[in-house]
Formats: sequence, structure tokens, C-alpha cells
Amino acid sequence: MLNIIIFLTICLSAVESQFPRVCTTEAALLTKSCCPLWKDKSPCGSLSGRGRCRNWLPFTGKEIQYNDDRLDWPRNYYENTCECYGNYSGFDCGDCKFGYHGAKCDRKKVVVRKEIRELTVLEQKRFFSYLALAKTTKCHDFVILSTGDRHHRETYRFVDASVYDVFTWMHYYSMKPILKNSTFDPNKNFAHQGPVFPGWHRLNLLFLERQIQMMMGDEDFALPYYDWRGEENCSICTDELMGANDAQAVLSPYSHFFSWKAICSGFDFPDEYCPLADVEYKMERIHRKPGATPYAPNLPTYEDVENILKLEDLDRPPFNETAIRSFRNALEGFLSPDGVTLKRSLHNLVHIYLGGTMSQVPISSNDPIFILHHSFIDKIFDTWIAKYNKSPKSYPENDQLGHGPNDCATPYFPCYKNKDLVLRSTQLGYTFSAFLMKPLMGHRYQ
Ligand SMILES: *[C@@H]1O[C@H](CO)[C@@H](O)[C@H](O)[C@H]1NC(C)=O
Ligand SMILES: *[C@@H]1O[C@H](CO)[C@@H](O)[C@H](O)[C@H]1NC(C)=O
Ligand SMILES: *[C@@H]1O[C@H](CO)[C@@H](O)[C@H](O)[C@H]1NC(C)=O
Ligand SMILES: *[C@@H]1O[C@H](CO)[C@@H](O)[C@H](O)[C@H]1NC(C)=O
Repeated sequence: MLNIIIFLTICLSAVESQFPRVCTTEAALLTKSCCPLWKDKSPCGSLSGRGRCRNWLPFTGKEIQYNDDRLDWPRNYYENTCECYGNYSGFDCGDCKFGYHGAKCDRKKVVVRKEIRELTVLEQKRFFSYLALAKTTKCHDFVILSTGDRHHRETYRFVDASVYDVFTWMHYYSMKPILKNSTFDPNKNFAHQGPVFPGWHRLNLLFLERQIQMMMGDEDFALPYYDWRGEENCSICTDELMGANDAQAVLSPYSHFFSWKAICSGFDFPDEYCPLADVEYKMERIHRKPGATPYAPNLPTYEDVENILKLEDLDRPPFNETAIRSFRNALEGFLSPDGVTLKRSLHNLVHIYLGGTMSQVPISSNDPIFILHHSFIDKIFDTWIAKYNKSPKSYPENDQLGHGPNDCATPYFPCYKNKDLVLRSTQLGYTFSAFLMKPLMGHRYQ
């Protein structure tokens, strides 16, 4: 245990993320440069051939016109950032690309994401204890942004958060409505309602998985998933697994997440970024109430998933929640699996069905069941990529802000181009178990 504590206080350098602490100094923000010195004392480890400090393309001018700090990510904050070579990655090129390990990042490893009911009791215990540590360990390398007034940059503060809360905050931050010349467009954001949806969430899970692997020194750790197809109710909402709840949606005191607080909860106004992010007593507890919402009475079926896999185009005009025959829109769940009827389904239906924190989508990743849900969404995405042999070339040109094939996914470091997330998961260092629920019912694999 002592080893673990020492390990955690060091909290390891470098992983893909947002607002590296060393880049939030006044000097870094003023010079718009985020090229930290690596161990060899050179920016981006350039002396060791890991990467270089690079001046990216100039502003497109959108940022000034719209006054949204996230546009042209990350150029509003930093014009110079690291570009890492070969298998290196991270904000200072001190880390490896997903799926690579070792000091020289030359060891490839593919972990297997399993269905949560497929994990052994020991693996389940490991998962819950890792999450507990991620929730309580202050992240050493990254900080989050907080303000009650997006219009006034002088009110922006960078504050501490735990490893888990940095992950949660990324979703919240990317999902704020886009600011356009002092007005907000509620139908546009950087993670949903457009072609980035599957790739953005894939990156969000990879971030958390990698953070936990590094925090625990456990390269084999893989996030589990929840195959909800055909479930009559949320069978994993038990105290052994994700937690039972009462009629008030309060999680059981005997469950793992009973005392978890939801960051960025309480108010959800378009003009704020997580105010009171560091004031714990202001945060609500996470809560959940599966099956209680009349317009989402059940979970999606096997047939629903089979049907969306028939849609061959990643996305189609107008690349928003009204797109038909769009795989993305059917997977995200603004489009019914028939490909033509605009109706809540798949991903959206599961959020609403689970209720409570999960149904408040901007803060939904505070409930760890989000991980299991999105990990399954990613499995469906990967199945679709394999079925049609998709690649970055399959990502469509489109006119949605932040959703372009060559835009960097917000708010990740280093730059991940949206199109580059359309590839087999094995190339990113993970794969999925072939899970069939029916044979497993009533017993657990050991
Ligand atoms: C990346 O890692 C692989 C081993 O998995 C290795 O063969 C390759 O040479 C590495 N690439 C670079 C540029 O180091
Ligand atoms: C922004 O708003 C101002 C004042 O309402 C207006 O003059 C200007 O044309 C607008 N700019 C854009 C890009 O819409
Ligand atoms: C969930 O469904 C199973 C099987 O249909 C049933 O035994 C169980 O009582 C249900 N649980 C809840 C909480 O409704
Ligand atoms: C989707 O795009 C179409 C075409 O640009 C537009 O008319 C419609 O208002 C958009 N819908 C939403 C919900 O953004």
C-alpha cells in the first residue's frame, strides 16, 4: 500500500490531455507556448529525438468572430505545442502513443476490454479499487478550467481536480454550446451532434484507461463494457457491480459509488465552465434511476444494433441531429435504427433510461456507468469499422465547427485529428472480448 501511495504522489508525467499544469503559468499563456521541457531539459524532448516544438497553422479567424475559446483547438491558448515523432506522444512527448509502452515506446501491447459480468471477482475488485483511487487522487500533471462567465477571459481560473474528474470535465467542457458572437447555439458542440461523436468518445475513454494504467503501474488494465442489448432492466445496477438505488434515485450505501460527488453539477448554464469546480460541498451526489423515465421504458435490442450496422456512411449531410442514413446519428441515437425516422434510440436512449446523473448528459460521465456504456458504444463503432473496412479516409468533409476531418479533437493534447480516430481499436492498443450474454446468465466466469 505504501508503494502505491508513493507512486501516486509522483502521479507520473505526461499523458494526452488538456491544460498541462506547466502550460498554465502566466508566461506560458502570455507567450501562447506549450512546449514543456522533457527530462533531457529540451522542449518536447527534441534533443532525444522524441519530438519538436511546432508553430501550427495561424488562426482561421473563426475564434475572433465567434469568441469561443475552444475553436481551432488548441490555438486560442497555444500557438506552439509539441509534435511527437514515431511512437512518442503526450503534451511533452514524454509518453507513448496508445498501445505502446516502455522507455523507448517500442513495445506494442493490445489489452482486452471485457464485459463487466465476464470479469472474475478479482478483476471486478481491481476495477472498483482503481476507480476509487482515480476519483480521490489529485492529478499532478493536469488542471481544469473554471469560470462563471465565458465572455470574460480574465475570470478564467485553472484549478486542481482528481484524475477521474479531469476525465469528466473534458466531456463537460467539450459539450458546452458553441459561442457565436455573444449568443449560444445549443445544437452545436465539440463532442456530439456531428461526425466527431464516436471518435471523440473513443479518445475520452482512451485517456482514462491510459491514466489509470500509468497511475497504477498496470499496463494490462482495460476498461470493461456493458452489453445492454436486450436487457429487461439494468442487471448490473447491483451493489456488487454499479450500485442499486432507491425510489429517490439515491445509490445504495452499500454500493461502490455511494459517496461520489458530481463535479460541474448543480447548475448548467451555457455561459459557465464548471464554476465551483473546487468547492466540494456544493456538488451533488451522483444518482441514478433506471427504467423510471416513461419515454425511455427499455434498453435497445439486439435487432437495433444489427440494424444500425447496416448504415454504411459514417455521417451524412447536414451532419447534425437531423441527418438520415447516417451511422453516427443512429449510433448517437437521434435517428431510429431504421435509418430514416428521427427518434431517440441507441446511445441517447441508454442515457435517458438510466436516469439521474446519466440523463444530464453534460455531467453524465460523473457516473462511472458512463464508461461501461461508452465502451460498448465503441465496440459497436469498432464492429462497424471492421465490417466496412473503414479508415480515416471515410471521415466526411463537413461544415460543423470543430468536426472537420483535420480539426484537432477538443480538448486533447497533442493534436488528434478527428479523422484519425476511424481505425481498428487494435491499432490503438485494445480490443474487445466476444461476449454473448445468454450463455453467461446466472453465473459468473472465474
Ligand atoms: C514503434 O514500435 C514498434 C514495435 O511495436 C517498432 O517496431 C517500431 O520501430 C517503433 N517505431 C519507432 C518509430 O520507433
Ligand atoms: C456580431 O454582432 C455584431 C453586433 O450585433 C454585428 O455587427 C456583427 O456583424 C456580428 N458578427 C457576425 C460575424 O455575425
Ligand atoms: C430485472 O429483471 C430480472 C429478470 O427479468 C428480475 O428477476 C429482476 O427482479 C429485475 N430487477 C429489477 C430491479 O427490476
Ligand atoms: C441541421 O442542419 C439543417 C441544415 O443546415 C438546419 O436547417 C437545421 O436547423 C439543423 N438542425 C439542428 C437541430 O441543428
